[in-house]
Amino acid sequence: EVKNLERLFEDRIARDEKIEPKDWMPEKYRQTHIRQISQHAHSEIVGMLPEGNWITRAPSLRRKVALLAKVQDEAGHGLYLYSACETLGVSRDELYDQLHTGKAKYSSIFNYPTITWADIGAIGWLVDGAAIINQVPLCSTSYGPYARAMIRVCKEESFHQRQGFEIMMNLAKGSKEQKAMAQDALNRWWWPSLMMLGPTDAESVHTEQSMKWKLKRKTNDELRQQFIDQTVPQAELIGLTIPDSDLKWNEERGSYDFGAIDWDEFWQVVKGHGPCNQERMSARVNAWENGEWVRDAAMAYAEKQEDKKLK
Ligand code: ACO
Repeated sequence: EVKNLERLFEDRIARDEKIEPKDWMPEKYRQTHIRQISQHAHSEIVGMLPEGNWITRAPSLRRKVALLAKVQDEAGHGLYLYSACETLGVSRDELYDQLHTGKAKYSSIFNYPTITWADIGAIGWLVDGAAIINQVPLCSTSYGPYARAMIRVCKEESFHQRQGFEIMMNLAKGSKEQKAMAQDALNRWWWPSLMMLGPTDAESVHTEQSMKWKLKRKTNDELRQQFIDQTVPQAELIGLTIPDSDLKWNEERGSYDFGAIDWDEFWQVVKGHGPCNQERMSARVNAWENGEWVRDAAMAYAEKQEDKKLK
């Protein structure tokens, strides 16, 4: 009977039908979605930290309002994705526990420090730019709740990308020092942004199966190439230089060739040895522990209301 169910499921995937929470699905499909969606949710929440670092120091009221809104959006994305993940039968407490005990992965990119204001520009432009390229195809992913979450998330990411690019554009046409600050941020964020899109297709353990299930609609290497091809002309437009001496337009392929990515650095960061892994983890664990009294109070209040209804 399971074989039959599996065949019907495969047929639905082939017809591009959305799979919904109460539908039958293979256990591995469920598990792999819990893995990817929860990693994605954790990334949104941890991703608030590097930028949150600059909210109090944004250079103008307008910049502060935009940054505050953006960081709040990331919180919304995280909660949205945790809810999508819960529809697969895992509890939010379990997911938090996996993050706080270091069992869960989150995006490598958020383990790098934001040392100047230009880093906020670079994150919006490059990191959110890469996130859009990764997430637009996910709007047509096969699992309904994930696909629907991605539609809204992508709209907001597009605002994030523009606010970042605008910061970089203004710094690049500012004083000599400002332009140097923008270039320095690009130098530091370029390679980690390419790594963020995941290991090469040859090294990616999940791509093949995830493409079959239409969880992933494009491979890591395809997304990386698309990101590079889109971003290089933007850097040229604002007079900044991509820190890759091997970068060269390839007429035949209609794409840029690019230099070697330092995959050792990527795996070090993924394994917890990046510049800010410990800082990010302790910030999340402290936030959870310091919020305990709020959760307890909310539960006590809810119970009191429930008691009142019963009386
Ligand atoms: N940071 C940390 N871990 C990573 C990263 C990364 N940038 N890229 C890949 N990995 C991990 C994978 O999670 C996997 O580990 P696991 O088996 O323990 O789960 C391992 O490296 C091998 O990678 P893949 O086989 O390529 O994994 P996958 O098919 O899941 O592809 C990808 C990785 C492209 C990140 C995919 O999961 C995805 O599209 N996720 C949704 C988007 C997302 O999470 N974005 C987060 C940053 S965007 C933002 O928050 C603004």
